[in-house]
Parts: sequence; structure tokens; C-alpha cells
Amino acid sequence: MTVTVLDTPADVALAVATRVAEAIAGRPSLVLGLPTGNTPIGAYAQLRRLHGEGRADFSRVSTFNLDEFVGVSGHHPGSFRQFMARHLFTGVNIPADRIGFLDGTAGDLEAECRRYDKAIAAAGGVGLQLLGIGANGHIGFNEPADSLIAGTHYARLLESTRRDNALLFEGDASKVPPEALTMGVGSILGSEAILLIATGTAKAACMAGAVNGPVTTRLPASLLQLHRQVEVIVDRAAAAGL
Ligand code: F6R
Repeated sequence: MTVTVLDTPADVALAVATRVAEAIAGRPSLVLGLPTGNTPIGAYAQLRRLHGEGRADFSRVSTFNLDEFVGVSGHHPGSFRQFMARHLFTGVNIPADRIGFLDGTAGDLEAECRRYDKAIAAAGGVGLQLLGIGANGHIGFNEPADSLIAGTHYARLLESTRRDNALLFEGDASKVPPEALTMGVGSILGSEAILLIATGTAKAACMAGAVNGPVTTRLPASLLQLHRQVEVIVDRAAAAGL
């Protein structure tokens, strides 16, 4: 695990976008794994800027997002699909048929999870997986638990996670769906390289556990210590406990 500590969230955003743009330049057909949430918004804005300046060409890139709410269509403004459209997809040139997303309205959710795992495998696996981290140490929607699931699966969200996502649903945590589909920890660890991003004091404790603590399903991000190629980019606030 390499850890880079930068002064501000803006510095983190620029460093992450630069890293992604370099990866695409090195491999134009890169398969990217992508998170939603507040943390990557700045990096996505920087990627849109780099694309606008002709410095990042996504025409052969494929993407797979980590997760989506159950019962929420990709057209709903609270969906992660729309989040990605707002923050990244409409500002870069990823072909629509190369954007992979879980369908939270699928009739057979189990079949939808298997479809997603197969689609990722058919694309050659994720080359670079970007990750945020929940204050409780979750990655994707793999919440702390006694055991974790390897493949893409149906997950119940903790109340704290629903509160964290309230802004997508008119600020009302009770409107945040209690369930989601998410890539599992095995899918995440199956990526060739992982870039974990965190900013702000609220992430200091979970980052300390993820980087230096014991490997435990009670802090899912700690499992990243088992991966050979993990890069961590954090601001000073999130690095306070490292
Ligand atoms: C989002 C996701 C989550 C977030 C995490 C951090 O697709 O999978 O694990 O990365 O909840 O969210 P923010 O960045 O809002 O603090």
C-alpha cells in the first residue's frame, strides 16, 4: 500500500484525476471501477476539465459502478446512475454501451448480480478501481459484519449509511432505500489496481484502521491490505490517525 498525503481535498481531486488520466493514456481501453459519494466529486470535475482540454480520451474506456439502490430506476434523480451522469458521464466521452451499471429495479435481483459479475469478467476485469470509504470502514456497500460476501450481491444498508445518502433523496434519510446491490469485496479485490480516496476528519479513524489496523470484516476497507497494488490518496485531515 502506498499512501500519499496532500494538503487539501482540492489537491486530492487533482492528484486522483491525474492518476486516472495517466492510467487511461497508458491503456486507452482501461476498465475503470467507480464510486459515487462526496469524495470523488472533485476528481470527477477535474477529469471533465482534462477531457475538455483534450488531455483525457475516454472513447475506449469501460466503466462499472460499485453499487445502486434497490427499487430506484436509473432515471430517478436519487439514483447513483444519475449521480454519475451529473458528475462525470455527461462531461466525458465514454460510449454509452461501455457504461456498466447495476439495475436496482431488475425483477430478479440475484440474476442481476450474476449478470454484473459476468459483464465485468467479459470486459477483462477491472483495471483500476477507485474507492471511497464510509466512516464505518465500508467499501461499496459492504458494511461491517461478521462475514462479508465476495461477489456482487444484495445488501441491507445501515441507518448511518442511509443518513449519509439523504442528500440524494431531498435530505430525507427515510426516503433512502434500505437496500442496495453492490460489488462484493472479492470483486473489489479482483481489480488489478485500487485507488482509495478519503478526505476530511470524519474519515481519520476508519483510514487509520484501513491502513494500519488488523484485517477484519468489521472494517471492510482493512481487507485492502491483502491486495498487492493499492494506492491511497488522502488529505491531511483524513490522514490524522495514520
Ligand atoms: C459509493 C460507495 C460508498 C462511498 C462511501 C463514502 O458508491 O460505494 O462506499 O464510497 O460511502 O462516501 P462519501 O464519499 O460520500 O463519504
